Amino acid sequence: MTLPVVKIGVVGLGNIGQLHLKYVSEMANVELVGVCDVDQERANRYAEMYNAKAYPSPSELLAHSGLDVVIIAVPHYDHPAIAIEAFERGIHVMCEKPIAVHVNDANRMIQAYEAAKLNHPGLQFAIMFQERTLPFYAKLKEIVASGELGQLTRATWIHTKWFRSQAYYNSGGWRATWAGEGGGILTNQCPHTLDMYQWLFGLPSLISGHAHIGKYHDIEVEDEVTAYLEHANGMVGHLIVTTAELPGTNRLEIVGDLGKLILENGKLLHFKYPQPLLAFSRETDQHFATWTLEPEEVDVDTTIPTGHEVVTRRLVDRLLGQDVELIAEGPEGLGAVTLANGIMLSSFEKRPVAVPIDGDAYQAHLEEKIQTSTFVKQVLTAPVVVSDMSASFGSNNG
Ligand SMILES: NC(=O)c1ccc[n+]([C@@H]2O[C@H](COP(=O)([O-])OP(=O)(O)OC[C@H]3O[C@@H](n4cnc5c(N)ncnc54)[C@H](O)[C@@H]3O)[C@@H](O)[C@H]2O)c1
Repeated sequence: MTLPVVKIGVVGLGNIGQLHLKYVSEMANVELVGVCDVDQERANRYAEMYNAKAYPSPSELLAHSGLDVVIIAVPHYDHPAIAIEAFERGIHVMCEKPIAVHVNDANRMIQAYEAAKLNHPGLQFAIMFQERTLPFYAKLKEIVASGELGQLTRATWIHTKWFRSQAYYNSGGWRATWAGEGGGILTNQCPHTLDMYQWLFGLPSLISGHAHIGKYHDIEVEDEVTAYLEHANGMVGHLIVTTAELPGTNRLEIVGDLGKLILENGKLLHFKYPQPLLAFSRETDQHFATWTLEPEEVDVDTTIPTGHEVVTRRLVDRLLGQDVELIAEGPEGLGAVTLANGIMLSSFEKRPVAVPIDGDAYQAHLEEKIQTSTFVKQVLTAPVVVSDMSASFGSNNG
């Protein structure tokens, strides 16, 4: 159904919720109709600031604000319940990443969405993977999808531009705990990287993960991870991430039979092979051959609009009747959660795990971690600083 104006409500008015409020309140053909936060004082403050109504609970917002779309920006564990209630009411969802903490919850959301579509055709479910709009990543997607690299053999991603201090981890009671957040770097900082990985290469068939718990921070979840990912087509992937490195590195190498891409420091280099590499390896009589190749620097338009607003705008435009694709369909969020849970499951059980992963086995580990937790969180209630986030977003573009 085409809407004349899209009415939006925002649930969760913390770091990212405040950013959503700001651009939504300025968007054309959009009306911010309601806000909600468990912190009622915060909800009232932002309702007044943006001339919207504050609701005491997500259910009240969904039932009474007349909204078309709910933006879910609460801590991850609460994404499924709010999304499922929205679907049942025929309300479109823009869910923050990660879609859910574990694959069982993600699957419940996806099933609820599929069921609700039977009663509400045209129901939309979007997920906030704004990094898909970043120019270098969008260009990588274009090149990989074109098949120009031939059969892919290796993808190696070192992403350590996620520095987080102890003060950051102390800034919210839910952060970096099994009960509050359900994980560490893989659940909070890396969903974009994990999504990008599966968007570019698909899911691996086998995951070997090595995760270190609270290695560099006083936290009970993982802050340093290395994963080895084996794909059915023979490609291998490596993922190296930490929140404890300065200056951080963000380097992605993608190797195929016909070429090699290196993305780092806002520069995308393309080594184009003179002939297919694997055939050359099979057929050459040189024992120690080498190719001296000059890489081409790929032209990337860095002026295109990017970020959260673009992702929400796409959903809004679709609801306004434009024939556009979502930046990321909600069910695609399962991919990043599969990688995150799969890496942790492998690390917990010290063995490679097959994909699709055993969601019940992962959930059992998670519940055991929650029940046996003796960690005492030091929480400092400093004011929320929105501007802090831009540095984090900006660091992810190659
Ligand atoms: N896409 C991105 O770039 C991005 C960036 C940051 C955070 N996030 C995601 O957004 C979510 C929120 O993160 P944050 O950093 O803004 O957290 P935050 O702690 O700063 O804010 C969360 C807010 O939600 C409120 N809240 C908690 N439970 C609630 C509930 N059931 N109903 C209503 N309000 C509730 C809290 O009072 C708080 O105001 C997380 O899932 C996170 O992963 C995404």
